[in-house]
Amino acid sequence: MIETDKRLAALAAVAEVRAGMIVGLGTGSTAAFAIDALGEQVRAGLMISAVATSLATERHARAVGIPLIDLPATIDLTIDGADEIDDACHAIKGAGGAMLREKIVAAASARMLVIADGSKRVARIGAAKIPVEVLPFAEAFVAARLADLGGAPVLRAGFVTDQGNRILDCRFPVDTDMRALAAEIAGIPGALGHGLFLSEVDAAYIASDGVVTRLERGARTR
Ligand code: 5RP
Repeated sequence: MIETDKRLAALAAVAEVRAGMIVGLGTGSTAAFAIDALGEQVRAGLMISAVATSLATERHARAVGIPLIDLPATIDLTIDGADEIDDACHAIKGAGGAMLREKIVAAASARMLVIADGSKRVARIGAAKIPVEVLPFAEAFVAARLADLGGAPVLRAGFVTDQGNRILDCRFPVDTDMRALAAEIAGIPGALGHGLFLSEVDAAYIASDGVVTRLERGARTR
């Protein structure tokens, strides 16, 4: 069952948390299992502090008793979900719309773990929508640039990010060079963040039918 697999993946990642760590808390239904598990450990005496990647995660963490701090210069370990992940730990994130803060927290983290059920594991990322957070002022301009890149952007209806911005969901051709694409999107003025996580993820716990597989990327490239 998918919910059981999400929970198993989350528990495997939470087992890497040690006393005294600053932990980055991801956003989404899989990350929520990790927050629940960490909350239980905190209530049992584990001393950690945490940084939330969204307002929803902030509320959840407070509700289960996890002490929160503002984003520091460095985070020890971040645990977050993904919409797609391949065996080299390239990921697409942002179906929940939190990828801008998630990317910042990931970049600040000495180690980032993705947790997911087996439906998220793919041979090559690119089928999932790639979300782009856009400053409302720049929406039409950024949409036109993304269309030029082949992304067929669609405004996420009725959705406003935690930062007060909008999201353009894109679908690029499956054979797109994702690294080149990430650089192109990052270079569009008004595009504030995107869901391609190509260098941030150090390892992933993927659970399928109750069995957890650990994927570990090679040397970190950033
Ligand atoms: C939010 C995210 C989520 O981590 C991602 O969408 C996975 O969510 P879920 O665990 O609910 O499938 O990137 O911005």
